Amino acid sequence: LTAAAPDLRAQLRAIVGEAGLLAEGAAAVPYLTDHRRLYQGRALAVVLPASVTEVAAVLRLCAAARIAVVPHGGNTSYCGGATPDASGQQLVLALARLNRLRSIDAVNDCLIAEAGCTLAQIQAAAQSAGRFFPLSLGSQGSCQIGGNLATNAGGTSVLRYGMMRDLVLGLEVVLADGRVLEGLSGLRKDNTGYDVKSLFIGAEGTLGVITAASLKLFPEVRARATALVAVADVPAAVALLAHLKTASSERVSSFELMPRLALELTLRHIDGARDPFGHPHPWYVLCELTSARAADALDVILEEALGGALEHGQIEDALISTSERERQAFWRLRENIPAAQSRAGASLKHDISLPVSRLAEFLARAAPWIETAVPEGRLIAYGHVGDGNLHFNVSARSAGEDAALLGRAESVRRWVHDLVCEFGGSFSAEHGIGQLKVAELERYATPVELAVMRSIKAALDPHGIMNPGKVLRFGAAENP
Ligand code: MLT
Ligand code: ZN
Repeated sequence: LTAAAPDLRAQLRAIVGEAGLLAEGAAAVPYLTDHRRLYQGRALAVVLPASVTEVAAVLRLCAAARIAVVPHGGNTSYCGGATPDASGQQLVLALARLNRLRSIDAVNDCLIAEAGCTLAQIQAAAQSAGRFFPLSLGSQGSCQIGGNLATNAGGTSVLRYGMMRDLVLGLEVVLADGRVLEGLSGLRKDNTGYDVKSLFIGAEGTLGVITAASLKLFPEVRARATALVAVADVPAAVALLAHLKTASSERVSSFELMPRLALELTLRHIDGARDPFGHPHPWYVLCELTSARAADALDVILEEALGGALEHGQIEDALISTSERERQAFWRLRENIPAAQSRAGASLKHDISLPVSRLAEFLARAAPWIETAVPEGRLIAYGHVGDGNLHFNVSARSAGEDAALLGRAESVRRWVHDLVCEFGGSFSAEHGIGQLKVAELERYATPVELAVMRSIKAALDPHGIMNPGKVLRFGAAENP
């Protein structure tokens, strides 16, 4: 940390108390670097307000003194969205102490939670009321709902329930000047002017600080069937998705694709992982059907659908889990891919989405290009194929090739994102923009889109104090 002006620390302490202001030094370190260790920042101070009133007072103080504020949740961003810059002039505002579950209304299917609640905490609260909160991510034990909202998180059940934006009824937000926008509605129908809350979802803290949210709940899942399916290629996986949706009357809640190489990485780097099939297959799909009706025989539906597909040569093999333990083991093979990939060494990550109908064609163009243009890398394209979202990652072939691979990051990113654009896709499907993809947004958004975003930014944060350097360059930074 830089040495903060003593009166600033004193003023912050007066607002958040001793417990809400981190001492300078080691305690602050986790707030100054991101999950992937791409960025190392410094900060004026790290504050942890415990109420909305405290957040508002901190922002009033920062607005008056023109101090930049970096909202910080569970720090699981892949794009450096919650890490301060290296100037030492920004204040980190962590939401971890704002973590109360304010209310739950099982009849209205709605729950109000503060921003610092972890996703797992919200899932558990819903479950204890006999309801279900569907957002589901590998980092759910540590990511916070405020960060999920700020980045419009996706995950493994978007196919059925939508992204974070689709799961919100209302928000409470502290604006850049310290005013509180109170919008914790429990209404599903409310046509009263602009959809203001939507602006803050996916804005990554650049327009205000989300302090609480009113979230949609769903009937508890009472029946479930999960299968690991081996397929020859991506067209077969896409065809299987359509087949399962029809056969199950839209009860497919997850449909995840993994190439053989991803499974091999997991088998090599994750303790206890094992290949459930006797021999290798080129691609695998992990699919899950769910229903709120305990009596729904989803395993029968899945077995019939997969049996038919096997008979017609559409799939190579399939295993339906027969116990919760086996189901968890299938999911571990999928959820550990990012951990296995980072243990294996350097990788280039591209979080892309495409129309599902164009996925196979995209891969047919992109895979051979990686093969020849990136000799030190191997393509590991996996992910939420049911949503058209691929983590189009390239891993170094060996530790000795990390540096060479990383040296190509920019040219590979350009080629991949240009192709994604040609295919009508997005260069940021579910991981946001953060500081990593600011230039990408400038390149691929239209001038009109950028102008609209800058007008909104100017209206809500005229002095540019909210999470500067993230999502959008603004004000003086616009023309460096
Ligand atoms: C995932 O789906 O596993 C994550 O979004 C992480 C990744 O990009 O590797
Ligand atoms: Zn993902």
